[in-house]
Parts: sequence; structure tokens; C-alpha cells
Amino acid sequence: SKNQLILALETSCDETAAAVIRNGHEIVANVVASQIESHKRFGGVVPEIASRHHVEQITVVVEETLNQANLTFADIDAIAVTEGPGLVGALLIGVNAAKALAFAHQKPLIGVHHIAGHIYANQLIKKLEFPLLSLVVSGGHTELVYMESHGQFKVIGETRDDAAGEAYDKVARTLNLPYPGGPHIDRLAHEGEPLIDLPRAWLEEGSYDFSFSGLKSAVINTVHNAKQKGEEILPQTLAASFQASVIDVLVTKTVKAAKEYNVKQVLVAGGVAANKGLRAALEEAFAPLSNIELIIPPLSLCTDNAAMIGAAASVRFAQGKRSDMSLNANPGLDL
Ligand code: KG4
Ligand code: ZN
Repeated sequence: SKNQLILALETSCDETAAAVIRNGHEIVANVVASQIESHKRFGGVVPEIASRHHVEQITVVVEETLNQANLTFADIDAIAVTEGPGLVGALLIGVNAAKALAFAHQKPLIGVHHIAGHIYANQLIKKLEFPLLSLVVSGGHTELVYMESHGQFKVIGETRDDAAGEAYDKVARTLNLPYPGGPHIDRLAHEGEPLIDLPRAWLEEGSYDFSFSGLKSAVINTVHNAKQKGEEILPQTLAASFQASVIDVLVTKTVKAAKEYNVKQVLVAGGVAANKGLRAALEEAFAPLSNIELIIPPLSLCTDNAAMIGAAASVRFAQGKRSDMSLNANPGLDL
């Protein structure tokens, strides 16, 4: 229909989120209830706590979303939800809420892959043009995804160990910074110089895979060695050096793949796409490549949200894809 409205739910990790998306690309309402404060003192997301918060928040967040949108369930054409990957207990809350709502209000149900959601956050900014390449950098994923058309995802490279966001969070912990560490490292990096030469894992010639665990270990070793020698390394210097290594590899491989696959657009997705250094480096690298359009969503659409799930769901909806009441949380769901 001309005015398609999708209510989307996202509870895969530590944000309880709902959104209403019109015609696949327009945000009518977008509500995110963050649990970061509850997990901070544990230095990471505690699955049991995440599930409990989702249970407490999901109904409130859905109601708030419909209120903000000035809509009722009668106006909604379909209900979408993240089915995986993520924390199984957290996913279950969203999946069961979406199933209950779809059943009670007799609406179609659409399960969405979390990473498809991150990629489709870009559709809330620009019309997607194929073929395209998406750099997905989140707390759990680091992937280069090639797309020839809507809903077709080909992973051409992925991390062999830690995800980029995971490396950020672990390095932040080494520097005694609060969780999530990404934004803190980002801030420190801008106050320092990348004076320490840290490794860059290029892997085999032609590979688009990534590896960040060696870099993470190198940072930890640098800190320990300095401590033993009684030397002082500024956290700003470490943050800047770490960030320089991450960005160098991410940007170099993205540019190479974009050229090789002859893509029209490069999309950036996931929480680490909020990184100011990465955004600036990508913009600089793609500026001379006038036939490739670089799209980077605003910060609020890079980190977890339900608007992106609604955008991805609209494509599945248009393709006639529906889930039924057997929809289940799938923590290891493939893209
Ligand atoms: O996509 P996301 O919100 O959740 C997952 O699906 O994983 O990503 C969260 C990750 C965390 O590791 C966080 O530290 C990282 O994104 N992150 C950042 C920045 N903002 C969030 N990493 C680097 N720089 C940032 N500015
Ligand atoms: Zn995410």
C-alpha cells in the first residue's frame, strides 16, 4: 500500500527498542530504552540483567512508540522483530512480545536478522542503489557484505576472532575506561597522537577477512611492559595508536573491495560506525572516488535501534516473506 506502517521491536542485546517506519524509509517514531547504566558496574552486558530489563521495558517502549507516532494497532500493517543473532534470553523477550502482538491484533509477523537491520539503517538516510558494499562493524560483528539486490547478502569478509567493537571494549577495559568503551577510546584518540606502532592484521593477499585479537593483545602487552619498566604511556597515545590501526585496516579493505566489486554505494553499519575517526577516514578515502557514494547513518542509527529493523522488515514484507507463530529466537542466525 502507499502508506505502509511497520511496528518493529529490537531486544537482541542491551537496548529495548521499538519504532514505527513508514514506507520502509521514513521514521515515524523511534524509542530506545538503554540499559547501559545497569550493566556498567559489571564492565559488560550481563545476559540475565538484560532479559529482566527487556521484560520490564518492552510493553512501555511499544506504547510510548505508538503514542509518539499518534497511531493505534489498527493503523499498523505488520509487526517486525529481531530474531537473531544476539543474546538468546534477550531475543526471546522481543520475539515473544512481537508474536503476542501479531496474534492479538491479527497482523503479519516478520522476523529480521539483526545485521540486516544495521545495514538497512542506511535506507533511512538514502535510497539504496545496487550493487553495494556494506561495512558492518558492531560489538559482535565485523563483516564486509556485498549486495546485488534487496535482501541478498554475500559476506565477502569477516573477523576471524574479535569483532571491532569487542576489541574497542577490551582495550577500554585495559585502560580502566567504563563500558561500553568505544566512545571513550574514540574521545581519547582525538586528544592523542598515534605514536606507538601497533600491528595491522592484513592477513593473506586478497583476503577481506579481519583479525583484531592480535592488536588487542599488543595493546595489553604494551601497557604491561610499560608498567614493569616504570614508564608512563599516556592513555591518549595508546587510544590514538589503537584506533589508527583499526581504522587503517577497516578503511583499506573497504576501499579495495568497493573497487573490486564495482559498487555504486558503500554503506557503513553497526555501533563502531559511530566512531568519529572511522567516519572521517572513510569520508577522506572515498572523496576522490566520485562514482562511489558513501553513506554513513547518524550516530543514533548506528547503535542498536528498532528503526533499522523496521526498514529491513519492509523489504521482507514487500517480498512476501512472513514468519509464523513458530518464530523463535535464534542466537546464531545466519545472514
Ligand atoms: O551495534 P551495536 O550498538 O551493538 C551490537 O550489535 O553489537 O555496537 C556496540 C559496539 C560496542 O562495542 C561499542 O563500544 C561500539 O559499538 N561503539 C564504538 C563507538 N560507539 C559505540 N566503537 C568505537 N567508537 C565509537 N564512537
Ligand atoms: Zn547491533
